[in-house]
Amino acid sequence: MSEIIKKNSWVVLLSKEKSFVVRCKGKFNTQYGIINLDELIGKPYGSEVKTHLGKKFVVTKPYLCDVMRKLERGPQVILPKDAAVILAKTGIGKNAVAIDAGSGSGFLAIFLANYLKRVYTYEKNEKFHELVKRNLKILGIRNAVAKLGDVRKGFEEKNVDLVVLDLEEPEKVVKHAYNALKKGCWLVIYCPFAEEVGRVVNEMEKRGFVITEIVENLQRSWSISFDKKGFSHLRAEPYVTFTGFIVFGRKV
Ligand SMILES: C[S@@+](CC[C@H](N)C(=O)[O-])C[C@H]1O[C@@H](n2cnc3c(N)ncnc32)[C@H](O)[C@@H]1O
Repeated sequence: MSEIIKKNSWVVLLSKEKSFVVRCKGKFNTQYGIINLDELIGKPYGSEVKTHLGKKFVVTKPYLCDVMRKLERGPQVILPKDAAVILAKTGIGKNAVAIDAGSGSGFLAIFLANYLKRVYTYEKNEKFHELVKRNLKILGIRNAVAKLGDVRKGFEEKNVDLVVLDLEEPEKVVKHAYNALKKGCWLVIYCPFAEEVGRVVNEMEKRGFVITEIVENLQRSWSISFDKKGFSHLRAEPYVTFTGFIVFGRKV
């Protein structure tokens, strides 16, 4: 049986021209007219709704990428393009446990929690720790645990499969990551600056990690149009240039 839309749940309003992600409650104004969202409560996902001007939208259940657009942002986040590379290169999956530090806005923790069994995310700044808790609550994520603490003092968890560091002076946390990880498992360090890569690699090698790869992930979107003869024309969109180096190592 198809799932029913509940009051206040997130829904995606999809049309060819435009999509919106909203809580299902009350009235929603669009440039195509007003949608009465209360009409949708109790109907199955996949239903259609019309604005008061007659524009039709299909109502679907959101994926993570939809609702992440609604989250509050504090410090610079790890973008999905880089988070996806962490999953792909480590091959980590649904039975894995990870540590993420610092939490920042919680974007990486939320992304990882969508694929892994459990994520512990550490943040030393109380304001950002509260922000992460709010973001986890908005999305109803229960397998990510937000912890307030300075990771230079170490991690409470042992035998984890992955530690990701995205914070200042990550080299000072490498020894704690080593203690928290199972043998053969992954330390991934996100470095926005080239000088940091050298410091991190030296420390990782000294502490018993083997460096497997250092990656910069470039991603470019393209748009397509067709001329009267049906020939396609591709055009590169402006793209996010440098975001960070990602250093991958395994505990040996
Ligand atoms: C760039 S942000 C992390 C963003 C996060 N990866 C995301 O995707 O939303 C870095 C965060 O690390 C936190 N931080 C820095 N040093 C820390 C430490 N020693 N222990 C815990 N958190 C720390 C900072 O307060 C900041 O919020």
